[in-house]
Amino acid sequence: MEVTSVVQLDQTKAKDEYPNLSLRPLQVSDVDDFMVWASEEKVTRFCTWEPYTNKEDGLNYIKNIVVPHPWLRAICIDDRPVGAISVSANSGNDKCRGELGYVLAFKYWGKGIVTRAVKMVVETIFVEWPHLERLEALVDVENVGSQRVLEKAGFQREGVLRKYLIVKGRSRDRVMLSFLSTDYQS
Ligand SMILES: CC(C)(COP(=O)(O)OP(=O)(O)OC[C@H]1O[C@@H](n2cnc3c(N)ncnc32)[C@H](O)[C@@H]1OP(=O)(O)O)[C@@H](O)C(=O)NCCC(=O)NCCS
Repeated sequence: MEVTSVVQLDQTKAKDEYPNLSLRPLQVSDVDDFMVWASEEKVTRFCTWEPYTNKEDGLNYIKNIVVPHPWLRAICIDDRPVGAISVSANSGNDKCRGELGYVLAFKYWGKGIVTRAVKMVVETIFVEWPHLERLEALVDVENVGSQRVLEKAGFQREGVLRKYLIVKGRSRDRVMLSFLSTDYQS
């Protein structure tokens, strides 16, 4: 399904600045744009992975992880990727929930872009995956911008999971936020 075909964009300052914001699959041919955000220390600060230092690693990541990923989209301005957003798929008893993740090139921070992208995901994912009842996000306690993005997009803050994950050698507390399919319907 074409992701942008079923979304209604909200009115924000970014809509005026970047009217051509869209989500689409990230492809091998996008590797140079991918390397822009993937190589930035600021972008990877709260992520489990280190900044990419060479294009070959970027190509391998796109081929082996991005292309087969069940739901990963490039966040594009004028069809050019400036970041990425994904939902993980679970199976069995965990099938009702998926985890949201996103990154954006530093140059574009603070313009409402990821908030718009998250709203676009919320408006499509429960339609594309009718089995999904819960979209969740786990955010570092110090990643205040990311928590704000999710709250602006309608996610509810559920609590703090203490010493939940090791990131770059240190165990970190993570805030759990979620959006339910019934939140969207209501
Ligand atoms: C976090 C990130 C996705 C935000 O994307 P963005 O497009 O800049 O976010 P938006 O512009 O839509 O919204 C950011 C909000 O957080 C606020 N914010 C940002 N940094 C903040 C801080 N340190 N303290 C308080 N608020 C902050 C902004 O003011 C804005 O809120 P406002 O609209 O009420 O003013 C982006 O910075 C990023 O890619 N970071 C690196 C990767 C990452 O951390 N991913 C998330 C992993 S959970």
